[in-house]
Amino acid sequence: MSVAVETKALTPPDIAARKGRDRIVCLTAYTTPLARLANRHCDVVLVGDSVGMVLHGLPSTLSVTLDMMIMHGKAVRRGLDRALMVVDMPFASYEEGPEQAFRNAARLMAQTGCAAVKLEGGESMAETIRFLTAHGIPVMAHVGLTPQSVNVFGGYKVQGRDGDADRILRDAVAVAEAGAFSVVLEKVTEPLARRITAEVTIPTIGIGASAACDGQILVVDDMLGMFTGFRPKFVKRYAELGSEADAAIAAYAADVRDGRFPATEHVFDDAPKAGDVA
Ligand code: KIV
Repeated sequence: MSVAVETKALTPPDIAARKGRDRIVCLTAYTTPLARLANRHCDVVLVGDSVGMVLHGLPSTLSVTLDMMIMHGKAVRRGLDRALMVVDMPFASYEEGPEQAFRNAARLMAQTGCAAVKLEGGESMAETIRFLTAHGIPVMAHVGLTPQSVNVFGGYKVQGRDGDADRILRDAVAVAEAGAFSVVLEKVTEPLARRITAEVTIPTIGIGASAACDGQILVVDDMLGMFTGFRPKFVKRYAELGSEADAAIAAYAADVRDGRFPATEHVFDDAPKAGDVA
């Protein structure tokens, strides 16, 4: 079923127009409650394929499926009425060529109500990005460290240090010329992020790419301290919800074992008491 997109929501052209002006605030979300919070404060909410690692306990993003992205995309859509919603195209859903990419991107848009998709890759994806944008699908590109290619890179290494800076710059220029409305730069050195941001005509959205970018994105579970599997240097923790949740669950378990929960105020009598709430 297709979902109508609110007309007052930010659009890909609105985001593209921010280039060199207001900084763009982006955050991932995978559920309705966090999407509602992000919607109040952020310009772009990305349903990232990082969902596989942070919510599903997968070792990488490689086994995330289109159906998973659709399920989380639907949930996020219910929480947004202002922020631009972008959904990641998962591994193996677009690399075969423009037709495969169009078929799957259109399914993501129709079934989640998102206004744009994100896909990983530079020069090699330019033709696909050109095809998608020419056929009504706005694309956020993603260059530098592209986690779906972790096996080619041999790990989640900083990009731009091993003589690969010019190639990454060419990637960013290629996706911009192909029509992407913005480009994520992941884990690239600050000098390279500065060069790319100065050279491309679309906003750069950094993650581990310094304040030289036009905007920033973080994985919401990382910045809230919910995902503790590993902690990249570029993540700033704005809360420690993981340890707070651990302490809360420990306190609940102790209360149940020691008979302190439920207490009188949690129990229903035959007759309602003044001030009783369901
Ligand atoms: O999957 C994701 O969350 C992402 C961001 C880290 C940019 O691609």
